[in-house]
Amino acid sequence: MKIAVITGASAGIGRELVLAVDKAKDLDEIWVIARRRERLEELKTLCRTKILPIPLDLTRNTSIEEYRAFLIMEKPEIKLLINGAGFGVFGPFEERSINDQLDSLRLNVIALTAMCYASLPYMKKGSAIINLGSNSAWQPVPWQAVYGAGKSAVLNFSRALGRELKKRGVHVMCVCPGWIKTEFQQRADHEKYMRYVDRWYSPEEVAQQTMKDLEKKKTVSILGSPVRRQVRLVKFLPAKLVMEIWCRQQGIE
Ligand SMILES: NC(=O)c1ccc[n+]([C@@H]2O[C@H](COP(=O)([O-])OP(=O)(O)OC[C@H]3O[C@@H](n4cnc5c(N)ncnc54)[C@H](OP(=O)(O)O)[C@@H]3O)[C@@H](O)[C@H]2O)c1
Repeated sequence: MKIAVITGASAGIGRELVLAVDKAKDLDEIWVIARRRERLEELKTLCRTKILPIPLDLTRNTSIEEYRAFLIMEKPEIKLLINGAGFGVFGPFEERSINDQLDSLRLNVIALTAMCYASLPYMKKGSAIINLGSNSAWQPVPWQAVYGAGKSAVLNFSRALGRELKKRGVHVMCVCPGWIKTEFQQRADHEKYMRYVDRWYSPEEVAQQTMKDLEKKKTVSILGSPVRRQVRLVKFLPAKLVMEIWCRQQGIE
């Protein structure tokens, strides 16, 4: 049985990736993971591929064990793993809940890493992993200090893992979007803390770019030339200067 596994499938970028994968790939099933069961169930009516909803809170260690149990039972061939689940907590590090910030690392970094580890034994030559990074991965980001650091870890992990898996023929790509209009901003308290925006992109646009870049076997996928330009620029500027420019844009003292 050939399947795709997609986390964060109940909303935003992950949901759009389910719809895009359903259109582009010939699979027996798509396993969709997030906490909100009814949102996952709804995907059944929107996709031609059989959808298997697996409602899990991925910040809990037991959830990865539950996922592993599904794999042991079904023994599928995972053609595509997309780690789309994630959230951010924006604002001054000291003022935001430490539990929420640690939970964001549990989801964005630890669960993503554990999902790769659990899935790899079921992947063969030609399979692929897509990890959701961020434009925040390329530099230190005040008021996104924990989120940005976690996304840097995701970017570097994805690149290194991709190199390790080259011999095995399993491709790894890290998707690094700029500002995308989703539920993410609400949970991060975007409006309260962030005031600079280049341009909003849609989750559909991210999904389309992701599928195009996967076909081209890119290791990093970035939507939009302003975002690509910014990534190129920060590679050449000292981190201190990049942070100063960002802080001035944000009104951070
Ligand atoms: N939006 C942006 O501007 C932006 C920019 C760059 C990168 N990204 C990254 O893109 C990814 C997707 O973000 P998005 O914008 O699509 O956000 P979103 O619309 O808020 O969707 C987040 C997804 O993650 C799931 N999720 C959240 N907490 C979870 C948990 N504890 N266990 C399992 N699933 C959980 C949510 O489902 P449930 O609530 O049902 O659990 C939802 O499906 C994230 O990794 C984010 O960091 C977003």
